[in-house]
Amino acid sequence: MPEITAPSDKKIKLIVNRIHNLPTPPMVFTQVNKVLQDPKTSAYEIGAIISEDPALSAKILKLTNSSFYGLPRTITSVKQAIIILGLDVVRSLVLSASVFETFSKSKAIDKNFLDSFWRHSLSVAFMARIISRTKNFPSLLEAEEAFSAGLLHDIGKLVIFTHLPEEFKQVKLAVEENPDRLICQIEEEVLGFDHAMVGSFLAQKWNLPGELGNAIKYHHSPEDDESESITTLIIHLSNYLTKKALLQEDNQATAVSVAPSSSLVWEKLGIEQEKEDELIQLLQTEYIKAETFLNMARGQ
Ligand SMILES: [Fe+2]
Ligand SMILES: [Fe+2]
Repeated sequence: MPEITAPSDKKIKLIVNRIHNLPTPPMVFTQVNKVLQDPKTSAYEIGAIISEDPALSAKILKLTNSSFYGLPRTITSVKQAIIILGLDVVRSLVLSASVFETFSKSKAIDKNFLDSFWRHSLSVAFMARIISRTKNFPSLLEAEEAFSAGLLHDIGKLVIFTHLPEEFKQVKLAVEENPDRLICQIEEEVLGFDHAMVGSFLAQKWNLPGELGNAIKYHHSPEDDESESITTLIIHLSNYLTKKALLQEDNQATAVSVAPSSSLVWEKLGIEQEKEDELIQLLQTEYIKAETFLNMARGQ
């Protein structure tokens, strides 16, 4: 049984009792994460660890050379990628590739769910990156962090899908029957916890940065995030905007009800609410670059 760091949290206990084998990240992810905690780590060391996993190295090179980063020339080694993109970007690449690797192996039958899940997660990741840039957050690190948080914000849904398939079906049915209700409330009723809680627990188990875990935990209730993290606000807003974009574009089955983002969130981020349509437009342009990520999510 894993150590519980917040014993007061009954929900965490409930999750641990119901989901016995939370997915573990690939070994290389754990190693890279550990080594990156040492500020003296060199590109050479990280490159050496990643290179021991040829499949992961290939994925990282594929992502590095995708139009997402728009590099002027082809990068042929992981070490080169680290030198050019920086350690933090590579960390987020390793994280993306590891998450896809872990979950694309699951024997999930509902391919449609997986497809729309990754599409939504990637849209939120892209939107989060756009907002970081619009906000003029100074460093690439912040944009990367927002991207990773976007990619992982709903990871709890994937855990429920792969580990509690019966309950997952019940939730899905209830969501379809009650399109105006919020998924978190339905999950609470069926499971006793929601996907945000499971996701933050997974983030803790994977030793992801606290900021990322918080963004996952509070993406539906940013007002509860006592750390008042900007990443949480960005993910909340990105989630709202991508759902809104989907509602605009297809009048249909995949879009579910989304709570309106409070004006306080816009205010705290310093973005005018009138920018909503502009941001959605930007997403549609940027999202074209998502193909490499999508293929990877499908295990290709
Ligand atoms: Fe969510
Ligand atoms: Fe979401």
